[in-house]
Amino acid sequence: MLFKNLLAAAALAATAFAAPTAEKRQAQKLKWFGINESGAEFGEAVIPGAYGTEYIWYDKSTIDQFIAQGMNMFRLNFLMERLTPTLTGALDKAYLGNLTEQVDYITSKGAYAMIQPHNYGRFNGTIITDTAGFKTWWQNVAAQYKNNSLVVFDTNNEYHDMDQTLVFNLNQAAIDGVRAAGATSQYITPEGNSWSGAWTWVSSGNAASLVNLKDPENKLVYQMHQYLDTDGSGTHAECVSATIFSERLQAATQWLKDNGKLGVIGEFAGGVNTQCIAALQDGLSYLDANNDVWLGAIWWAAGPWWADYMYSMEPTSGPAWSGILPSIKSYFLS
Ligand SMILES: *[C@@H]1O[C@H](CO)[C@@H](O)[C@H](O)[C@H]1NC(C)=O
Ligand SMILES: *[C@@H]1O[C@H](CO)[C@@H](O)[C@H](O)[C@H]1NC(C)=O
Ligand SMILES: *[C@@H]1O[C@H](CO)[C@@H](O)[C@H](O)[C@H]1NC(C)=O
Repeated sequence: MLFKNLLAAAALAATAFAAPTAEKRQAQKLKWFGINESGAEFGEAVIPGAYGTEYIWYDKSTIDQFIAQGMNMFRLNFLMERLTPTLTGALDKAYLGNLTEQVDYITSKGAYAMIQPHNYGRFNGTIITDTAGFKTWWQNVAAQYKNNSLVVFDTNNEYHDMDQTLVFNLNQAAIDGVRAAGATSQYITPEGNSWSGAWTWVSSGNAASLVNLKDPENKLVYQMHQYLDTDGSGTHAECVSATIFSERLQAATQWLKDNGKLGVIGEFAGGVNTQCIAALQDGLSYLDANNDVWLGAIWWAAGPWWADYMYSMEPTSGPAWSGILPSIKSYFLS
């Protein structure tokens, strides 16, 4: 999801909860029940920008609250340009330090942390064409986390309006860079062109192209995004129908099955209303029924600066924390 405006900071009142037991997590219907943590990519007009002014990292007490609800996957948004001022340059110590602090906190609780450059296949405003440089970027970043098997590498958020061969080549370069770093135990999630939409995965040409990605460790999980509004953009509170989520997943599900691949819904959301809740439940039930190929789903979004944003699941003030989470968590937990 593209979100341009920095929202006003909202004060947080957070309460720590105990982490769920390992047994409870193993009993999940879907491997991953997750949340997008958004804020470190905010203020992208100001690079590098300042922590607390242009961008923000995530509150550990809210991470605890999500874990207490059964969540075990955190998709961590950040900007490539803040981590490395040039594509192949050195990592910024402070920004990396913050990212690593969050990764270590999340994974110390037994949950997964997804490293997610929120860059749409662009760097400094330009489509990345330097695939060798992109491989180096990933090799440098993955080297930081190579010992941690609860880290998941997301090649890039939502490629769009790009040459399909380039999208393939960037994904392959990312996979090659991660593995060259010696990070061999982690999952990697390639994303597709056309904003990585599940509903257009086959019709956009992503399916035919990205089926040929190669991972020597065989740990690819194709990441697709799915919103339920009329244009699939995730910018409206209304959902098209009570069955739109499962309908939009069908072609991609068949593709995963036909090709022996795994998938994850890396972003999904709907507004707090009866029709959207019905659609969310129907779609999650469909994912449960097809959990041989779908590993899970990750809500869009949380983060300290979303204020009253319609999809915010930030504890405890986000509308979706009280309006959606209680109605969907049973689809993840046994
Ligand atoms: C970023 O792009 C601007 C022009 O848009 C250019 O002046 C600048 O040198 C670029 N920075 C890097 C690090 O490539
Ligand atoms: C997080 O970022 C802030 C601001 O740049 C910095 O002062 C701090 O040292 C960083 N934290 C870590 C653990 O690196
Ligand atoms: C990763 O493993 C190497 C070699 O076993 C070790 O030296 C290093 O301290 C480990 N790093 C972390 C972050 O655990």
